[in-house]
Amino acid sequence: MSARALLSMTGDLGAEPVAYTELAGRIRVLIADGRVAVGTRLPSERELAVLAGRSRTTIVATYQALRDSGHLVSRQGSGSRATLPHLADISKRPGRAVNFAGSVPPPVDGLRELIAETTTDLPDITTFPGFDLLGNDALREAIADRYTQRGPPTSPDQIIVTTGGQHAIALTAQTLIQRTDTALVESPTYPHAYEAFQRAGARMIASPVTTDGWDIPHLVATIQQSRPVLAYLIPDFHNPTGASMHPEDRARVVHAARTAGTTLVIDEAPADLNIDRPWDDGPFARHATRDATWNGSGIITLGSLSKSIWSGLRIGWIRADEAVIRRLVQARPAGDLGTPPIEQLIGERVVRRLDELVIGRRRFLHEHRTVLTESLNRRLPQWTTPWPDGGLSMWVQLDHPGSSALTSICRARGMSLIAGPKFSIDGSLERFLRLPFTSPIADLDAGVELLADAWAHLDANARTAHERLPASAI
Ligand SMILES: Cc1ncc(COP(=O)(O)O)c(C=O)c1O
Repeated sequence: MSARALLSMTGDLGAEPVAYTELAGRIRVLIADGRVAVGTRLPSERELAVLAGRSRTTIVATYQALRDSGHLVSRQGSGSRATLPHLADISKRPGRAVNFAGSVPPPVDGLRELIAETTTDLPDITTFPGFDLLGNDALREAIADRYTQRGPPTSPDQIIVTTGGQHAIALTAQTLIQRTDTALVESPTYPHAYEAFQRAGARMIASPVTTDGWDIPHLVATIQQSRPVLAYLIPDFHNPTGASMHPEDRARVVHAARTAGTTLVIDEAPADLNIDRPWDDGPFARHATRDATWNGSGIITLGSLSKSIWSGLRIGWIRADEAVIRRLVQARPAGDLGTPPIEQLIGERVVRRLDELVIGRRRFLHEHRTVLTESLNRRLPQWTTPWPDGGLSMWVQLDHPGSSALTSICRARGMSLIAGPKFSIDGSLERFLRLPFTSPIADLDAGVELLADAWAHLDANARTAHERLPASAI
């Protein structure tokens, strides 16, 4: 964290000399509140002294006071990092290795049988090309047929099979983005997507989403003003908020993108995870087909079987114009040389029976969502727990910032968890936490119990930090 960023949060120190105890107190509150996340490297004493216009001695004493109260650890060579008092102690309390980090559901019911069936009937694989950049014809046909049945007419030539949805994102990023291009993402969004765009050299901008959905006027205005080369959206059961974009809003976003020359990269990896959303608008790309001049070329759709069926299959795809597919095929060898054929054979059968297979997934998500909600309402009633109608996780709002601090404590006790800021490109969202409901039922309540214990510890800490500070500084 830069000295400027830190000082913007400590508030005006005024012209009068500020005693080091007061400056230390203000920083302590920021750490206890989570506005300065645990693990954040604070500016060097020299940098802070210069920017704050204080003597080096004052800042040295400030950092020493923070070390003494357990809010800072300094190590030779790695600077001074924010921490919390007793973090090491609470970390030693027995925990449980609960996974609240990945939203990875188990294989769907019926998959085992389908794999057994496929491998028993296995055609002679020595006749398969071992090097296949586009994907198996039968699988591409099954995927294309599914789009056509659900809305936008699609030919197999508009489909490339990838090694999962993440590969579809990375390949799209690598093909579409040139260094210094602008890419728009939602905030919050799926972190590995913006990482792929950043790695391709994009300058990132963001538009907000909450559990209530998109700020459509903001999204439309940002697309029109910034004209990003691509806008990456997750319109169905958005990760992490669970929100779905209303059909009329989809048409408005498509119109804005068309006039700005922005390619919409629509990630439909979670689209089959409907628990009880009362409507289904079909694939997003169907909105483009109504516009004869655009003809769908500005929409690239990404799909995956990971969430609806099993992430171990590593089957994803991209639906785009044939010309875009050709560019993707050309760019692909720099990253990988094809999706394994046996998985594609299984994938074809899965896609043909997708509607039937996801019934079990829905039942699973329905039950797990209820258990997690009840547990959160019972143990952490001060948090705002949403009720998503699909997807794999909840975007929970905490009663005060502190997501990173909470995550540090839980991790130290064996629970894996991702803090809210990871889902934003600018490190904001300390007030939020994504909680997947994909873990085994027994782990859901055990995980929330651990969260509640850690949150109580943080609350006690924040109270102490506030009590130590003169009211004028809070
Ligand atoms: C929105 C979204 N897209 C894509 C992926 C990538 O999934 P996979 O590579 O397993 O298909 C994920 C995984 O969490 C996701 O949440």
